[in-house]
Amino acid sequence: MKKWYAVIGDPIGQSMSPAMHDTWFNENHIDASYIPVHVTKEDLEAAVESLKRLGCSGWNVTVPHKSAIIPMLDSIDESAKMMNAVNTVKVLEDGTLFGMNTDGRGFVRSLAEMFGIDAESGDVLIIGAGGAARGISFALKESGYGPLTFTNRTVAKAQTLSEDFLDSNALSLEQAEKKLGAFNLIVQTTTVGMNYAESGMALSPDLLSSGSIVADIIYNPLETEFLKEAGKLGGKTMNGLGMFVHQGALAFELWTGIYPDTEKMIRSIST
Ligand code: ATR
Repeated sequence: MKKWYAVIGDPIGQSMSPAMHDTWFNENHIDASYIPVHVTKEDLEAAVESLKRLGCSGWNVTVPHKSAIIPMLDSIDESAKMMNAVNTVKVLEDGTLFGMNTDGRGFVRSLAEMFGIDAESGDVLIIGAGGAARGISFALKESGYGPLTFTNRTVAKAQTLSEDFLDSNALSLEQAEKKLGAFNLIVQTTTVGMNYAESGMALSPDLLSSGSIVADIIYNPLETEFLKEAGKLGGKTMNGLGMFVHQGALAFELWTGIYPDTEKMIRSIST
């Protein structure tokens, strides 16, 4: 029987996941489809029950359900525990629901694909201390990157985050701006610069060392002001599209056992 997958969220209309997964199903000759389902907070429990009952094989979870869905699942992996968020669900053979989070690992895959870098890359600065920062930090540490330094507008949150990671510390945005030249990899995880959110930059990249890698997890717009400025200063820049595509590829792999073509996908979305 034809398998089907979904993404649930609110809003969901703008999601690029259906087109991405349908392309991968076609490329890999898998008889399956992937649909967006608009699910409000009040309907989450009923929606999960329905997806199960109607034979959905797995689904992605997006805003605002990533944490709320956890009690409705039978098991979750370490990444989801650490982030207290799930973005991918698989219905196992016995009908139970397994959740994981591929966001952070998607970021690390994207970094490796773009720059061929690995854990030897040196000191890492994480800008922001929300869910995205936590997930990416977990995945970076898991792959041996570090040491990590956290900086955030609300410094207390950066401090709390740094307590969860060995050998890490926290700085204010002003302190991080002054020390920026000491970092080989800088990861911008705040919402600043995203379309429909606050414009500008969380911190100035002026003191960046030329040749450092600067990543922004935002992909709408494809180039934030922060990336533009960092590029002018000699930084090697990466936007968030690769992270988006690789988090999807990791979900696809969990469902099908196949890691799909990400480079072609990134090219086709960005042109
Ligand atoms: P996500 O789940 O995407 O990480 P989040 O948990 O809401 O989203 O976190 C948003 C991050 O963007 C936080 O680090 C937030 O800083 P605060 O903890 O101080 O709120 C950061 N952020 C949002 N607006 C900002 C701004 N104008 N300047 C600097 N940082 C900002």
